[in-house]
Order: sequence, then C-alpha cells, then structure tokens
Amino acid sequence: PAEQSGEIISPEATSEAAISDKPTYIVGIDGEYPPYSFIDKNGEPQGFDVESVKWIADDMGFNVKIQAMAWDGIIPALQAGKIDMVYSGMTITDERKEVVNFSTPYLKINQSVAVHDDTNLTMDDFMAGTGKVGAQRGTTGAFWVEENLVNKSVMSADMLVTYDNFPLVATDLQNKRIDFAIYDRPPMMDAIAGKPLHIIGEIDTGEDYGVAIRKTDPELLETINEGLAHLMASPKWTELQQKYEME
Ligand code: ARG
Repeated sequence: PAEQSGEIISPEATSEAAISDKPTYIVGIDGEYPPYSFIDKNGEPQGFDVESVKWIADDMGFNVKIQAMAWDGIIPALQAGKIDMVYSGMTITDERKEVVNFSTPYLKINQSVAVHDDTNLTMDDFMAGTGKVGAQRGTTGAFWVEENLVNKSVMSADMLVTYDNFPLVATDLQNKRIDFAIYDRPPMMDAIAGKPLHIIGEIDTGEDYGVAIRKTDPELLETINEGLAHLMASPKWTELQQKYEME
C-alpha cells in the first residue's frame, strides 16, 4: 500500500482488529468527475466508481482511502506510490499501457461534443476546425482533438484550449470563450445539465474504462480483476447503473 495519511474510509471498519488485518489501498480520483467520482457537499467522495471500489474492497477484504487529485498528474502519482490505483473513468489506451497496468474493462463510452444554445454550430463545423475547442488536460478527448484536428492541420494548436477540470471547460463554454467542448458522454451530460448548453454529436471512439495499477503490483491487479468480476455479476452492478442514470 502507498504511504498512508488522513482518514481511512472503509466500508467495514467495525473494529481496530478488522482494520489492521486488512491492507489499505489509496484510490486516486478526480473529484470533479460526476457521475463516476466526485466530492459531495459534505466533502465525501461519491459516484459510480467510488461505490464500485468500496464494494470490491468489502468483497475482497481490503480497506480504501479515497484521494482526490489533479487528473493531469494522476498517473505520475500512481507511479510515485502516492496512490495505489486510479479508479476514475480512465480510458485504457496503448500509451498509458506502456506505463501502468489496467484491469479488465468495466464500461464502454464515446466522446461527445457540446456547444452553447445560442449557436448553430454543427458537428460538421467541429470536424472542420471551425472554432475553439475546450477539453480537460490529459484526457482522451483532448488527445482526440490533437490527433485528428491539430496534427492533421484541420486547425491550429492554439484553437485547442485545455483546463485542469471539466467544470472550468463548461464555464468557458457558457461564457462563450470557447465554441465547443469535448468530453466523455456521461460526465458531459452531468456538466451541461441546467446550463444553456447542449450536445450536438458523438464521436464513436468506443473507449473502455479500466482501473490503472502500478506494473509492480500484479497481486493488486488480480485482486481488482476478481472483485470487478464479482461486482459485474452481482445485482449491485445494475443498481449502480440505474442510480447514476447510465444505460
Ligand atoms: N476517459 C477519459 C480519459 O481517460 C477522460 C477521463 C477523465 N476522468 C476524470 N476522472 N477526470 O482520458
């Protein structure tokens, strides 16, 4: 387990003995990533991924401490041993697989593109590089724009504007400082809810979410894979999907 600090959030910390028997793993999340991982009004971590890892911890016999941190530095934090896994809607990519291991895939998502309600911008405009695109730094949405628009000279690099978290992107879209926003569809739905923003289309990237674990921790990878298999076969899985409104 990584260096421990702060409060232990355990699904079953019923006694000191129960705590000391079990290892504690620190789970790194982006705290601004509803419906997968977010910090609620009371400062408590919540979401589909947070509930999933707590269920797995309970099932497989370990304690978890949830650590919210900057998305852009989350893989370096894993490699440095500050956290033991990233469980926060991370897409399994070949580039990331060079530095970390991934669990078996647990969800499939596509990218989506949103605009302000005041514009008539379409997906054709987006694909043609007409306007500034906002994305969270270090995400597959930002990578998609780099690879498919910037590197193919459809638009210049300065038309891609990156931010530390997605709420900042949504705010700039609302204030019309950018023309488009790109993000994984489920968190995009959350981010635009109640704002004068709407989704104009999807990009069929067919991304798989997985839990990232250090390459030097093969036992933890096995534990997570086993727990994930149990979770995905349990009624809890359907319950979580309904609770967080994902089909
Ligand atoms: N799935 C995308 C990626 O892996 C976006 C993830 C953003 N996740 C987050 N917790 N902020 O890059």
